[in-house]
Amino acid sequence: MDVNQEAKTFAAIKAVSYIENGMKVGLGTGSTAKIAIDIIGQRVAEGLKIVGIPTSERSHRQALDLSIPLTTFEETPHLDVTIDGADQVQVQTLAIIKGLGGALVREKIVAFASSRYLIVIDDSKVVQKLGNKVPVPVEVVQFGWSATVAHLKKLTGDIKMRKAENADGFYVTDGGNYIADCFFSDIADPKSMESSIKNIVGVVDCGLFLGLDPIVIIGSASGARLL
Ligand code: A5P
Repeated sequence: MDVNQEAKTFAAIKAVSYIENGMKVGLGTGSTAKIAIDIIGQRVAEGLKIVGIPTSERSHRQALDLSIPLTTFEETPHLDVTIDGADQVQVQTLAIIKGLGGALVREKIVAFASSRYLIVIDDSKVVQKLGNKVPVPVEVVQFGWSATVAHLKKLTGDIKMRKAENADGFYVTDGGNYIADCFFSDIADPKSMESSIKNIVGVVDCGLFLGLDPIVIIGSASGARLL
Protein backbone atom coordinates (compact mmCIF):
# COMPACT_ATOMS: atom_id res chain seq x y z
CA MET A 1 0.00 0.00 0.00
CA ASP A 2 1.49 3.42 -0.88
CA VAL A 3 1.98 6.02 1.86
CA ASN A 4 -0.95 8.17 0.73
CA GLN A 5 -3.28 5.19 0.60
CA GLU A 6 -2.12 4.20 4.07
CA ALA A 7 -2.80 7.73 5.39
CA LYS A 8 -6.29 7.74 3.86
CA THR A 9 -6.98 4.31 5.34
CA PHE A 10 -5.98 5.44 8.86
CA ALA A 11 -8.31 8.45 8.55
CA ALA A 12 -11.14 6.28 7.21
CA ILE A 13 -10.79 3.70 10.01
CA LYS A 14 -10.95 6.47 12.62
CA ALA A 15 -14.02 8.02 10.99
CA VAL A 16 -15.90 4.73 10.75
CA SER A 17 -15.28 4.19 14.49
CA TYR A 18 -17.85 6.98 15.09
CA ILE A 19 -20.61 4.87 13.50
CA GLU A 20 -22.89 2.97 15.88
CA ASN A 21 -25.76 0.55 15.46
CA GLY A 22 -28.97 2.17 14.27
CA MET A 23 -27.29 5.25 12.78
CA LYS A 24 -28.30 6.95 9.55
CA VAL A 25 -25.11 7.61 7.64
CA GLY A 26 -24.14 9.90 4.77
CA LEU A 27 -21.71 8.17 2.41
CA GLY A 28 -19.23 10.56 0.77
CA THR A 29 -17.49 10.54 -2.59
CA GLY A 30 -13.82 10.41 -3.60
CA SER A 31 -10.93 8.07 -2.96
CA THR A 32 -10.84 8.52 0.84
CA ALA A 33 -14.61 8.23 1.27
CA LYS A 34 -14.44 5.11 -0.91
CA ILE A 35 -12.11 3.48 1.61
CA ALA A 36 -14.48 4.46 4.43
CA ILE A 37 -17.43 2.92 2.55
CA ASP A 38 -15.45 -0.30 2.10
CA ILE A 39 -14.83 -0.45 5.86
CA ILE A 40 -18.52 0.30 6.56
CA GLY A 41 -19.37 -2.55 4.17
CA GLN A 42 -17.16 -4.91 6.19
CA ARG A 43 -18.82 -3.83 9.42
CA VAL A 44 -22.28 -4.29 7.91
CA ALA A 45 -21.26 -7.81 6.84
CA GLU A 46 -20.26 -8.42 10.47
CA GLY A 47 -23.68 -7.32 11.73
CA LEU A 48 -23.67 -3.51 12.02
CA LYS A 49 -27.18 -2.17 11.43
CA ILE A 50 -27.23 1.17 9.62
CA VAL A 51 -28.88 2.85 6.67
CA GLY A 52 -26.98 5.11 4.29
CA ILE A 53 -27.53 7.90 1.79
CA PRO A 54 -24.80 8.07 -0.86
CA THR A 55 -23.57 11.41 -2.23
CA SER A 56 -23.06 10.22 -5.81
CA GLU A 57 -24.01 7.50 -8.27
CA ARG A 58 -20.48 6.07 -7.77
CA SER A 59 -20.90 5.76 -4.01
CA HIS A 60 -24.44 4.44 -4.55
CA ARG A 61 -23.11 1.60 -6.73
CA GLN A 62 -20.32 0.86 -4.24
CA ALA A 63 -22.79 0.71 -1.34
CA LEU A 64 -25.11 -1.61 -3.30
CA ASP A 65 -22.15 -3.89 -4.14
CA LEU A 66 -21.32 -4.06 -0.43
CA SER A 67 -24.97 -4.68 0.56
CA ILE A 68 -25.09 -1.54 2.71
CA PRO A 69 -28.82 -0.81 3.25
CA LEU A 70 -29.79 2.49 1.67
CA THR A 71 -32.50 5.02 2.34
CA THR A 72 -33.69 8.30 0.83
CA PHE A 73 -34.30 11.80 2.19
CA GLU A 74 -38.03 11.21 1.68
CA GLU A 75 -37.85 8.32 4.16
CA THR A 76 -35.02 9.70 6.31
CA PRO A 77 -34.75 13.50 6.33
CA HIS A 78 -32.06 13.64 8.99
CA LEU A 79 -28.70 11.83 9.23
CA ASP A 80 -26.64 11.09 12.35
CA VAL A 81 -23.24 11.24 10.71
CA THR A 82 -21.61 11.73 7.32
CA ILE A 83 -18.10 10.71 6.29
CA ASP A 84 -16.66 12.53 3.30
CA GLY A 85 -13.34 13.65 1.84
CA ALA A 86 -12.27 17.20 1.02
CA ASP A 87 -9.93 19.02 -1.32
CA GLN A 88 -8.80 21.74 1.11
CA VAL A 89 -9.52 22.57 4.76
CA GLN A 90 -8.59 25.96 6.21
CA VAL A 91 -6.87 25.32 9.50
CA GLN A 92 -8.22 28.28 11.53
CA THR A 93 -11.85 28.22 10.37
CA LEU A 94 -12.41 24.64 9.15
CA ALA A 95 -13.89 26.13 5.97
CA ILE A 96 -13.68 23.52 3.21
CA ILE A 97 -13.36 23.27 -0.56
CA LYS A 98 -14.95 20.16 -2.06
CA GLY A 99 -16.07 19.00 -5.46
CA LEU A 100 -12.95 18.07 -7.41
CA GLY A 101 -14.68 14.69 -7.68
CA GLY A 102 -17.75 16.39 -9.16
CA ALA A 103 -20.28 15.43 -6.45
CA LEU A 104 -20.49 18.76 -4.62
CA VAL A 105 -24.25 19.38 -4.75
CA ARG A 106 -25.30 16.02 -3.31
CA GLU A 107 -22.37 16.19 -0.89
CA LYS A 108 -23.53 19.58 0.38
CA ILE A 109 -27.16 18.48 0.79
CA VAL A 110 -26.02 15.42 2.73
CA ALA A 111 -23.57 17.48 4.83
CA PHE A 112 -26.21 19.97 5.93
CA ALA A 113 -28.62 17.14 6.83
CA SER A 114 -26.10 15.54 9.23
CA SER A 115 -25.69 16.08 12.96
CA ARG A 116 -22.03 15.15 12.77
CA TYR A 117 -19.84 15.83 9.74
CA LEU A 118 -16.60 13.87 9.56
CA ILE A 119 -14.00 14.96 7.02
CA VAL A 120 -11.25 12.50 6.14
CA ILE A 121 -8.10 13.92 4.56
CA ASP A 122 -4.32 13.73 4.58
CA ASP A 123 -1.94 16.52 5.65
CA SER A 124 -1.58 17.93 2.14
CA LYS A 125 -5.19 19.19 2.24
CA VAL A 126 -4.70 21.44 5.30
CA VAL A 127 -4.06 25.08 4.28
CA GLN A 128 -3.78 28.52 5.85
CA LYS A 129 -5.79 30.17 3.06
CA LEU A 130 -8.30 28.50 0.82
CA GLY A 131 -8.01 28.42 -2.91
CA ASN A 132 -4.37 28.97 -3.78
CA LYS A 133 -3.81 25.44 -5.09
CA VAL A 134 -7.22 24.08 -6.03
CA PRO A 135 -10.17 25.67 -7.84
CA VAL A 136 -13.60 26.26 -6.34
CA PRO A 137 -15.82 24.00 -8.44
CA VAL A 138 -19.04 25.74 -9.42
CA GLU A 139 -21.92 23.60 -10.71
CA VAL A 140 -23.86 25.43 -13.44
CA VAL A 141 -26.95 24.36 -15.37
CA GLN A 142 -26.23 23.40 -18.98
CA PHE A 143 -28.67 25.91 -20.47
CA GLY A 144 -26.88 29.22 -20.94
CA TRP A 145 -23.68 27.98 -19.28
CA SER A 146 -21.54 30.50 -21.16
CA ALA A 147 -23.73 33.38 -19.93
CA THR A 148 -23.35 32.06 -16.37
CA VAL A 149 -19.58 31.79 -16.81
CA ALA A 150 -19.47 35.37 -18.14
CA HIS A 151 -20.95 36.47 -14.78
CA LEU A 152 -18.50 34.27 -12.87
CA LYS A 153 -15.64 35.95 -14.76
CA LYS A 154 -16.38 39.14 -12.83
CA LEU A 155 -15.13 37.23 -9.76
CA THR A 156 -12.09 35.62 -11.43
CA GLY A 157 -10.75 35.59 -14.95
CA ASP A 158 -9.28 32.14 -14.44
CA ILE A 159 -12.07 29.67 -15.14
CA LYS A 160 -11.83 26.28 -16.82
CA MET A 161 -14.89 24.30 -17.81
CA ARG A 162 -14.31 20.77 -16.55
CA LYS A 163 -13.79 18.29 -19.39
CA ALA A 164 -15.28 14.82 -19.54
CA GLU A 165 -12.87 12.00 -18.73
CA ASN A 166 -12.26 9.67 -21.68
CA ALA A 167 -14.84 11.44 -23.85
CA ASP A 168 -15.38 14.60 -25.83
CA GLY A 169 -17.25 17.50 -24.32
CA PHE A 170 -17.78 18.71 -20.79
CA TYR A 171 -18.02 16.68 -17.61
CA VAL A 172 -21.68 16.19 -16.63
CA THR A 173 -22.57 15.83 -12.95
CA ASP A 174 -25.02 13.32 -11.49
CA GLY A 175 -27.54 16.18 -11.56
CA GLY A 176 -27.01 16.72 -15.31
CA ASN A 177 -25.05 19.99 -14.96
CA TYR A 178 -21.61 21.29 -15.95
CA ILE A 179 -18.78 22.33 -13.64
CA ALA A 180 -16.83 25.59 -14.01
CA ASP A 181 -13.57 25.28 -12.05
CA CYS A 182 -12.87 28.78 -10.72
CA PHE A 183 -9.28 29.57 -9.70
CA PHE A 184 -8.53 32.27 -7.12
CA SER A 185 -5.06 33.16 -5.83
CA ASP A 186 -6.52 32.96 -2.35
CA ILE A 187 -9.96 33.52 -0.87
CA ALA A 188 -9.77 36.14 1.88
CA ASP A 189 -13.46 35.96 2.80
CA PRO A 190 -14.96 32.55 1.91
CA LYS A 191 -18.48 33.49 3.14
CA SER A 192 -18.69 36.55 0.96
CA MET A 193 -17.22 34.63 -2.00
CA GLU A 194 -19.81 31.87 -1.56
CA SER A 195 -22.63 34.46 -1.55
CA SER A 196 -21.26 36.20 -4.65
CA ILE A 197 -21.03 32.90 -6.52
CA LYS A 198 -24.46 31.65 -5.44
CA ASN A 199 -26.13 34.94 -6.36
CA ILE A 200 -25.35 34.35 -10.02
CA VAL A 201 -28.28 33.05 -12.05
CA GLY A 202 -27.51 29.62 -13.53
CA VAL A 203 -25.31 28.58 -10.59
CA VAL A 204 -26.60 25.49 -8.77
CA ASP A 205 -24.04 25.60 -5.96
CA CYS A 206 -20.32 25.83 -5.34
CA GLY A 207 -17.63 23.81 -3.58
CA LEU A 208 -17.22 26.17 -0.61
CA PHE A 209 -18.56 24.23 2.40
CA LEU A 210 -18.85 26.69 5.29
CA GLY A 211 -20.32 26.69 8.79
CA LEU A 212 -20.56 22.92 9.07
CA ASP A 213 -18.41 22.61 12.19
CA PRO A 214 -16.74 19.43 10.87
CA ILE A 215 -14.63 16.95 12.78
CA VAL A 216 -11.54 16.86 10.57
CA ILE A 217 -9.58 13.60 10.69
CA ILE A 218 -6.09 13.77 9.21
CA GLY A 219 -4.44 10.54 8.20
CA SER A 220 -0.69 10.12 7.96
CA ALA A 221 1.73 7.22 7.63
CA SER A 222 1.73 6.82 11.42
CA GLY A 223 -2.00 7.01 12.16
CA ALA A 224 -4.90 9.46 12.37
CA ARG A 225 -5.33 12.64 14.41
CA LEU A 226 -8.05 15.26 14.77
CA LEU A 227 -7.41 18.80 13.55
C1 A5P B 1 -15.99 14.76 -4.47
O1 A5P B 1 -16.84 15.58 -5.19
C2 A5P B 1 -15.06 15.58 -3.67
O2 A5P B 1 -15.67 16.57 -2.90
C3 A5P B 1 -14.19 14.70 -2.81
O3 A5P B 1 -14.74 14.51 -1.55
C4 A5P B 1 -12.88 15.32 -2.73
O4 A5P B 1 -12.46 15.56 -4.05
C5 A5P B 1 -11.85 14.47 -1.99
O5 A5P B 1 -11.50 13.35 -2.71
P1 A5P B 1 -10.24 12.47 -2.36
O6 A5P B 1 -10.52 11.81 -1.05
O7 A5P B 1 -10.14 11.49 -3.50
O8 A5P B 1 -9.04 13.36 -2.31
